[in-house]
Amino acid sequence: MTAFTINGRAVDVTADPGTPLLWVIREQLKLTGTKFGCGVAQCGACTLHVDGEPVRSCVFPLSGAEGRSITTIEGLSEDGSHPVQQAWVELDVPQCGYCQSGQIMSASALLARNPSPSEAEIDEAMSGNLCRCGTYVRIRAAIHRVAES
Ligand code: FES
Ligand code: FES
Repeated sequence: MTAFTINGRAVDVTADPGTPLLWVIREQLKLTGTKFGCGVAQCGACTLHVDGEPVRSCVFPLSGAEGRSITTIEGLSEDGSHPVQQAWVELDVPQCGYCQSGQIMSASALLARNPSPSEAEIDEAMSGNLCRCGTYVRIRAAIHRVAES
């Protein structure tokens, strides 16, 4: 049994401790906002927060969640009102949308620790999140919008 908090809710999960956290939250906890892309920590689609830090949940074992606080896109805000989500809506960032929960989780972690990131800091924080639709320009604009607000 692995005990942790997810989006403010305490949970106990029974699964092999090596199970990727992504599968636990999608299959057992039914939180499907976090996406599977590559499965090998190369695309960022599965990004969520562990104690506020962005983590690739496809390669993060369930055992690593013990006693920690996990936040998924569903827990970023109850109603889509988080400033990063708002900026994404205002600037029409998504295209197909598949990568976007991971993009938002990386961007929100960046802005939480650095409210006014430089271009280089944005590059560093976001470079592991791929978008096959090429929404990078709007992602960057949305991050700047949050930083300026
Ligand atoms: S699915 Fe985790 S990084 Fe691609
Ligand atoms: S919006 Fe389609 S992959 Fe990013």
